[in-house]
Amino acid sequence: MAVIAQQCPHIEVTVVDLNEKRIAAWNDENLENLPVFEPGLGEIVKEARGRNLFFSTEVDKAIDEAEMIFISVNTPTKTYGKGKGMAADLKYIELCARQIARVSKNDKIVVEKSTLPVRTASAIKSILGHTGNGVKFEILSNPEFLAEGTAVSDLLKPDRVLIGGDTTPEGTKAISTLSEIYAHWVPNERILTTNVWSSELSKLTANAFLAQRVSSINAMSEICEKSGADVNEVAKAIGMDSRIGPKFLKASVGFGGSCFQKDILNLVYIAKSYGLDEVADYWEQVIIMNDHQKDRFVNQIIKTLYNTVSDKKIAFLGWAFKKDTNDTRESAAIKVADHLLNEQAQISVYDPKVNAAQIYADLDYLGTRAPKENKDLLSITSSPYDACKESHCVAILTEWDEFKTYDWKKIYDSMLKPAVIFDGRALLNRNELEELGFIYYQIGSGITQH
Ligand SMILES: NC(=O)c1ccc[n+]([C@@H]2O[C@H](COP(=O)([O-])OP(=O)(O)OC[C@H]3O[C@@H](n4cnc5c(N)ncnc54)[C@H](O)[C@@H]3O)[C@@H](O)[C@H]2O)c1
Repeated sequence: MAVIAQQCPHIEVTVVDLNEKRIAAWNDENLENLPVFEPGLGEIVKEARGRNLFFSTEVDKAIDEAEMIFISVNTPTKTYGKGKGMAADLKYIELCARQIARVSKNDKIVVEKSTLPVRTASAIKSILGHTGNGVKFEILSNPEFLAEGTAVSDLLKPDRVLIGGDTTPEGTKAISTLSEIYAHWVPNERILTTNVWSSELSKLTANAFLAQRVSSINAMSEICEKSGADVNEVAKAIGMDSRIGPKFLKASVGFGGSCFQKDILNLVYIAKSYGLDEVADYWEQVIIMNDHQKDRFVNQIIKTLYNTVSDKKIAFLGWAFKKDTNDTRESAAIKVADHLLNEQAQISVYDPKVNAAQIYADLDYLGTRAPKENKDLLSITSSPYDACKESHCVAILTEWDEFKTYDWKKIYDSMLKPAVIFDGRALLNRNELEELGFIYYQIGSGITQH
C-alpha cells in the first residue's frame, strides 16, 4: 500500500489494522521503528505518509470512505478443529467481509490481497450479499508475489501483477479500475487478468513451485554429502540449462517464512478435500523434505561435537528466516534451536535485526519447555564476537551479508578447539576458514575429509 501511495499521489491510501501498537509504529516519527524492516521501505513511507498515505485504527471510517478495499489480513494454518494443521484459517477474512458489509453505504470493489484457498471469493461474495445494506460489491483476486527482504524492489518492478475477476461487465470494469492503478508504474504487458479461481490458485501454485525447488536442491544436497559431489557445483551445472534456470537453487538448512509452509499445507488440504490423494501426497513431500533438512543439520552438529552438546556453548549467527528482514516466522533457526536445547546445549544468538523479545517469543510459542528454561539455556547478544566467544561451534542460520565480513581469525582464536562452523546457508569460504584452523561443514558439501 505504501508503494501504491508513493506511485499514485492522487489516490488516498489508508492502512487500517486492529493492532494499535502496530499502527502506532507505522506512524512513528523515527523510521527505524517501523514494524517491518525492508530495504528502501523507510524512504517510501517518509515520502508518502501524511500526503496520501495514512495509518489508522479507525476501520469503520476507512471502510465507509473507500471505493476500493484490499483485504490483507492474516490467513494462518488452522490450529483447531477440521483441517487443523493444514487448512487456512479464514476467520479473519470472514470478520472483514462482515464488517465491510455492515459499514458500507455505497458500491465498492473488494480485493483479496491475502493468500486464499481457491474459491474463497464465492464465500466473500455470499457474506457480502447476504449481510450487506443492498449495495453492490465486486470481488477481485489480486495475490501478492513480493518476497520479504526484496519487497520494495519486487513491488516497483514486479515480474507480473495478477488480477482475477468476474467476466460480467461489472467484473470487467472492476478489473480495469484496479489495472489502471498498477498501470501508473507497471507496463501493461505485465498486468495479467484471469478468472477469479485461476488467480487464487496461481498464488498457491507459485509458492508450491518455489518451495519445491528448495526441497529439490536440498534433497540433492544430502546425496552430495554422501557421494562426494558438491551441491554448489551441481546447482551451477543444472542452472545453466535454460529450461531449469539458476534461481532458487541454493541448498540450505531449509526454507522458512510465513508463506511457503502454510500455503503448501493449504494446497494439500484442498487436494485432499477434492479426493486427490496422490496430488496431496506429492506436495506434502516438499514439507517433509524441509523438516528433514533441519533435523539433518542438528544431527550433524551433535555427531561432529562427539555425540553430545550438553552444556556446550553453540553460537547462532542469524535468527530471521532470510536476510534483509526482521521476520522470524517459521524460521529454520527456531526448530534447530529447539532440538539443540532438548539436548541441553547452551545457545548464544546474534541477529542484526531481530530483537531478543521476538526470539524468546518464538521459542516460548513452541511450548517445548517453560519460558524460564528457554531464558536460562539461550542468551542473546548484540555482538557476533560475544556470541562466538568460548563456543564449541558456530551455526550459520541466516545468510546475512555482514557475516562474510567478520574477522574470522579473531573468532577462531576466541573459540574452544576444535572450532567448528556449521554453515547452513553455504555462505562462507571453505578454503579461508580451513586455513585459519576451523573444521568447516557446509550443507551439500559436508566436511573436508583428510
Ligand atoms: N508476508 C508476506 O511476504 C506475504 C506475501 C504474499 C502474501 N502474503 C499474504 O498476505 C496475508 C497477510 O500476511 P502478513 O504477513 O502481512 O500477515 P500479518 O499477520 O503480519 O498481518 C496481518 C494483519 O492483519 C491484522 N488484522 C487481522 N484481522 C483484522 C481485521 N478484522 N481488521 C483489521 N486488521 C486485521 C492483524 O492485526 C495483522 O496486523 C496472508 O494471507 C499472507 O499469506 C504475505
